[in-house]
Parts: sequence; C-alpha cells; structure tokens
Amino acid sequence: MSETKKIALITGANKGIGFEIATKVGLSGALVYIGARNRERGIAAVEKLAKMGIDARHVLLDVTDVASVEAAFQTIADAHDHLDILVNNAGLIDPKDTVPSAIDLDVIRHTFETNFFGAVQVAKTMLPLLRKAPSGRIVNISSGLGSLALNEDPTWEFANTKLIAYNASKAALNMLTVQLAWELRNTNIKVNAANPNFTDTDLVPGVVGAQPIEDGAKTAIELALLPDDGPTGGFFENGERLPW
Ligand SMILES: NC(=O)c1ccc[n+]([C@@H]2O[C@H](COP(=O)([O-])OP(=O)(O)OC[C@H]3O[C@@H](n4cnc5c(N)ncnc54)[C@H](OP(=O)(O)O)[C@@H]3O)[C@@H](O)[C@H]2O)c1
Repeated sequence: MSETKKIALITGANKGIGFEIATKVGLSGALVYIGARNRERGIAAVEKLAKMGIDARHVLLDVTDVASVEAAFQTIADAHDHLDILVNNAGLIDPKDTVPSAIDLDVIRHTFETNFFGAVQVAKTMLPLLRKAPSGRIVNISSGLGSLALNEDPTWEFANTKLIAYNASKAALNMLTVQLAWELRNTNIKVNAANPNFTDTDLVPGVVGAQPIEDGAKTAIELALLPDDGPTGGFFENGERLPW
C-alpha cells in the first residue's frame, strides 16, 4: 500500500468551496476523497473531477453522523495506510440564525452539530491515519465571523453580521485548531484555519458583492499543500495571519 500520490479527504466537497479545494488539490496530483452526505451529489462531483483528469473517489460522509464518519475512515483505511490531507470544510448557516437576544437555542445546537462537533468528530476519527502520513495537514474552514477580535471591532466590514450560532460555531472551530495544533506540535501534522472570506456559494444565496469561489478556496488550498517549513496553529487569509 505504499504510494507516491498524496491522499486527501475533503468534507462537504460536492459543491462550493469544498469542490474547488478538491479540484485544485486533485490537480496538484493528489488522490481526492470527496466526502459528501448524498451519494448522487458525491458521485456527480467525482464524475466532474474525472473529466478534468483528477483521481477522485466518493466517500459517503455526513459529519453529524458518527457511524458515517467511522465508515468513511474504514473505507480510506482499507485502501491506504495513511491520509496526508484532511480539510474540514462541511458547514452551514441556519436561515433562522440571528442576534443573541432573539436566537432559538435549537438553531445554535443545529449549527454546532455540523460546524463544530462534526469537525471535531472527523478530525478525531481520521487522526490515526493522518499520524501515519509523512507530512500530515489538517485545514479547518473557518470564517472571519469566528474571530472574537474582528467581532468586537466596530470598523470591520462585517461588523453588522452578528449571527450568534454561526459566529460562535466558527470561534469554537478556531479553538479546535489551536488545541489540535498544540497537541500535535511534536508530530509531522500541521493544523491551521482558513478564512475564505465572503464567497459566492449556496451558503449565502442571492447576496451581492461576494467574491468568486476560486478566490474563496485559495487560502485553504495553500494550507492543504503547505511545505514542511510552513506554520501550524494559525488562522490565515491569503497568506496573512488573522486575529483569533
Ligand atoms: N461562502 C462564504 O462566504 C463563506 C465564508 C466563510 C466561510 N465559509 C465556509 O466555507 C465552507 C464551505 O461553504 P460554502 O460556502 O462552499 O457553502 P455550500 O456551497 O453551501 O457548501 C457546503 C457544503 O457542506 C456540505 N455539508 C453541509 N452539512 C453537511 C454534513 N452534515 N455532512 C457533510 N457535508 C455537509 C454541503 O453538502 P450538501 O450539498 O449535501 O448540502 C456542501 O457540500 C463552510 O464551512 C462555510 O462555513 C464560507
């Protein structure tokens, strides 16, 4: 099972930023597992990638379902002795998300299930395979909205976007990034968070002023393909560090 290609798993990779990360990581020569919770959508994404000459496979993966995450681990472990790249990309904004004074707590629970608990579950489950990689990389797709420092800055361009469930879930994901990087500091695995910035995907339907998906995926691709002298435990956008 010794291989020359990097093996990558991207969650929520059937569309949007995840699909673009899968495309570019695949074009770099990696074998890409398209984590998708829906078989048809996952297979359709793999077929699109195959037309670009990319070696992609679908793996059924609902990040909120532990059995599904464990089955995905087994699928990859049956085919490979390690995993080089994990991108925790699957995420959502609940349409009922709002300011703290008006929030329904079930919206927070629902959002955390995917954006935080899902990412923790996938990272924890895949870690034994990542530990066997010569240069493991974990990239958590966060958001500027998860930065405590930016949330408290009244001059920040997104200062009015106070979605307590989403913003808190990404702040929690940032904490996972810091703690996992710390825990793995003496290994070959680097753990970083990426801010795509405001990007034109189904996450923000019909909102004007969003950048193209290619731009939103750029930071995550860089972090997924980071050289061995690259950073770990950071929060980045286009090569610049963001404040936590
Ligand atoms: N777009 C932006 O402006 C922006 C800005 C900052 C951060 N982000 C982050 O970027 C990441 C990608 O979002 P996007 O903008 O590309 O949105 P998107 O087009 O809506 O894609 C979200 C992806 O996540 C998947 N997903 C959702 N819940 C899942 C689950 N339980 N298990 C597995 N997959 C699941 C979706 O699958 P289905 O197709 O099955 O629904 C879809 O593939 C998210 O983490 C988001 O928070 C986006």
